[in-house]
Amino acid sequence: MQQASHLPRVDVLEAIRLRRSVRKYTDTPVEWDKIGTIVDAGRTAPSAGNLQSWRFIVVESHPKRRGLAEACLKQYWMEEAPVHILVVMMLKKIRDFYGKRGVELYAIQDAAMAAQNMMLAAYSVGLGSCFVSAFDEDKIVEVFNLPADIKPMGIVTLGYPAEDPEEPLKFRLENVTFMDRWGQQNVARMKDIDAILWNSRVVERGIKVGNDLVKAVDIHTRQGRKKLIEKLKEKADQMRKKMEESRKKP
Ligand SMILES: Cc1cc2nc3c(=O)[nH]c(=O)nc-3n(C[C@H](O)[C@H](O)[C@H](O)COP(=O)(O)O)c2cc1C
Repeated sequence: MQQASHLPRVDVLEAIRLRRSVRKYTDTPVEWDKIGTIVDAGRTAPSAGNLQSWRFIVVESHPKRRGLAEACLKQYWMEEAPVHILVVMMLKKIRDFYGKRGVELYAIQDAAMAAQNMMLAAYSVGLGSCFVSAFDEDKIVEVFNLPADIKPMGIVTLGYPAEDPEEPLKFRLENVTFMDRWGQQNVARMKDIDAILWNSRVVERGIKVGNDLVKAVDIHTRQGRKKLIEKLKEKADQMRKKMEESRKKP
């Protein structure tokens, strides 16, 4: 597996938990290496049959960003984002392999997975993002002069956040997860999940406290050992001196 030591180190679960849809941006330009890192995260997403049936158009020009904001049902807040990434689907490619199912499902899934990867990568390099897909498709096709088999799937806006959105309401885990079969009757069983997660967090914390203690004890022990050795040396020196003195005596 490839190592990616040059990339920022943000825990993936932290990125998943703390990413928010950001709709206000500063006008600080986004560095190219960050844009590269983000697009690369899209490129490495899973895709049906590994066809990679998407392409990414990085949009920096203001007229084009304005055009996209217009096409997105006049969501003018988008204009403020210094970078947009338009994710498009390559319909011919996926139709040739998978027919109707490819066009109606896989192409969208592929592109959505790439978009999510890019948003998590954006978070990890300190940028805000928002996924946008309320748009007039024909207008986007017009702005970018897209060929007939290239269809827009969504836009990821990017930039340094000028807002810190609150965590939106999300369903509780037990309300969205069933065990073994569909239906509300399993809700009671899934309630355990919360307890399990809570317990495992307590255990995790316990392990950390344990590890810290072991380290502290180890440091103490090492210091204690050092003191003991020093004392022994002292004693040995005293004994040696005594022996030498006794030898000198007539
Ligand atoms: C398929 C899809 C389409 C979306 N379209 C828009 C959009 O057109 N405009 C917008 O401001 N946000 C859009 N969003 C972002 C959602 O509003 C946002 O994800 C949701 O409110 C939850 O907030 P969060 O992303 O901070 O968790 C879209 C999200 C998804 C998944």
